[in-house]
Amino acid sequence: MNDKNMQLLTSRLQFLTKVLNAMLRTHTCGELRLSHVNQTVTLTGWIQRIRDKGGILWIDLRDRYGITQLVLEEGVTEQALIERARSFGREYVIRATGKVAERLSKNDKLATGDVEVRVGDLEVLNPSKVPPFTIEDESDGGDDLRMKYRYLDLRRNPVRQNLELRHQMARQTRAYLDNLNFIEVETPVLIKSTPEGARDFVVPSRLHPGQFYALPQSPQTFKQLLMVSGFDRYYQIVKCFRDEDFRADRQPEFTQIDCEMSFVTQEDILNTFEGLIRHLFKTVKGIELPPVPRMTYDDAMRLYGSDKPDIRFGMPFVELKNPTAGIDFTSGRNFGAFDGSDLVVGICAPGCAGYSRKQLDELTDYVKRPQIGAKGLVYVQYKTDGTFKSSVDKFYSTDDLKKWAERFGAKPGDLMLVLAGEKQTARKQLNELRLLMGDKLGLRKKDDYAALWVLDFPLLEWDEETKRYHAMHHPFTSPKSEDLHMLETEPGKVRANAYDMVLNGTEIGGGSIRIHDRPTQQRMFKLLGFSDEEARRQFGFLMEAFEYGAPPHGGIAFGFDRLCALFGGSDSIRDFIAFPKNNAGRDMMIDTPSPVSEEQLKELHIRVVNP
Ligand code: AMO
Repeated sequence: MNDKNMQLLTSRLQFLTKVLNAMLRTHTCGELRLSHVNQTVTLTGWIQRIRDKGGILWIDLRDRYGITQLVLEEGVTEQALIERARSFGREYVIRATGKVAERLSKNDKLATGDVEVRVGDLEVLNPSKVPPFTIEDESDGGDDLRMKYRYLDLRRNPVRQNLELRHQMARQTRAYLDNLNFIEVETPVLIKSTPEGARDFVVPSRLHPGQFYALPQSPQTFKQLLMVSGFDRYYQIVKCFRDEDFRADRQPEFTQIDCEMSFVTQEDILNTFEGLIRHLFKTVKGIELPPVPRMTYDDAMRLYGSDKPDIRFGMPFVELKNPTAGIDFTSGRNFGAFDGSDLVVGICAPGCAGYSRKQLDELTDYVKRPQIGAKGLVYVQYKTDGTFKSSVDKFYSTDDLKKWAERFGAKPGDLMLVLAGEKQTARKQLNELRLLMGDKLGLRKKDDYAALWVLDFPLLEWDEETKRYHAMHHPFTSPKSEDLHMLETEPGKVRANAYDMVLNGTEIGGGSIRIHDRPTQQRMFKLLGFSDEEARRQFGFLMEAFEYGAPPHGGIAFGFDRLCALFGGSDSIRDFIAFPKNNAGRDMMIDTPSPVSEEQLKELHIRVVNP
């Protein structure tokens, strides 16, 4: 090597050493303890707060791991350094070197609260504009602002912790499934639409004018094809896309733990994935979840008016009148609202007999809101002295009310709340009231967990709008063999080999045993109103695959975001997604959806009619 090259190399090395030194920290901001006292350390991070008491200046330095207090003191620290520190602002990125010392007044709220770093050197790695909201656990930023500056929001502890929880959930999911010989296979994102009940997001194709890809609503058909390929046990933590209306527990793009197994019965699937949920509870939350109870869809609707009942609390429905079941505790008293109804059904709210007129009116107003739509609410107060007071005293005698109380299993001090109407409608309405009472009575605690399998869903669902049947789960779900004979004659009565897992009243997963032969799949498509040609065009590939030795198979998909939100004790899945969309489906940070250039549109052969 000649001198010139040697010089070049030396200067490169010096530069690299400088860069490396500049990057280096000896510890994180969450690490220092009493055992580090007297050590010289270098920390890097963001300034959370500066407190300037004149003679002494404290800086709270934050990184992903915690907060450490830095101190600069007149007479001890170089004056120029103190002056420089005074010019710093919140969220400046700095690097501080100093000696660890025991604090005089300790902070037991911080893991590093026993110590502080007495700064000897300080350097700004990057200044910061004043952030638009405070980056603290309780921020003063509104939702929209925090979404616009999501990268700053993500610096806040609670938000970062949510993502850490999500990471743990994914890690433990993989550990559990890997251990059972599942393999993770990636399936494509540019596909042809799969009918899962929502609208597809479509992607225009430049090379194929007038033709479109669709983003997958789920990898359903691909995972079934993987079974035909013999993969036997598949999983994927996978993005799915659905163009549907927004709710707190929905996002247009969300993540599933998507799974499929071959040569299994429904029982095998329920056991395997109950195992997954219990593994997650144990490893992530340290909770030993009891075996998950099971309930048929029919019972869930009859007892809770919902296919996703929250069974953290009781308050099951009690029917006072249901002619098809031969029940009637209401007739002969000329009460029109009950006499003209298919179903009279109620709940017993324990200890609520003392509700005031105002409280009872509030409950009535609640069920009469347009979103719920009940015509009225009947109440019966079973007073602690054993007497009754009800809104139907004019129609029903004390003896009648006593019989109702017996049927409800009510005790003195309880309040019976009764609704009447068309069967499905009244059940739905009472479900809302039951959940409200559960909230009011503090029976829906976020850190109480109750999982439930709901089984035997109907195969089909009548859609009034289109006047035809839709698959309740999806068209690949198999009918129960014992109900097959009704497929063409009474399709509405056919039950499916389909199951949902419900956690605290939220559907966290759903799946089914699939159809795996061409004739049944064809029969199913026909029932759903597909012509042979349509079925062949859309799903010819799957039906053909079924003719090449498709094994019996079934599976399930869990809503990963929902699962994380429930584990984190939140109702909103947005808090558990790094960069979520807002309620209107917009990403406020990158500002999308947004127009594209004329040129792009032209290339894609798209003409915007009414932009
Ligand atoms: P399903 O449509 O029931 O089944 O979806 C499975 C689970 O995904 C979650 N989920 C959502 N989470 C957030 N935002 C959304 N928009 C959203 N939509 C659904 C729910 C739901 O239980 N392919 C089938 C599964 C199978 O049969 O194996 C499927 O996708 O928690």
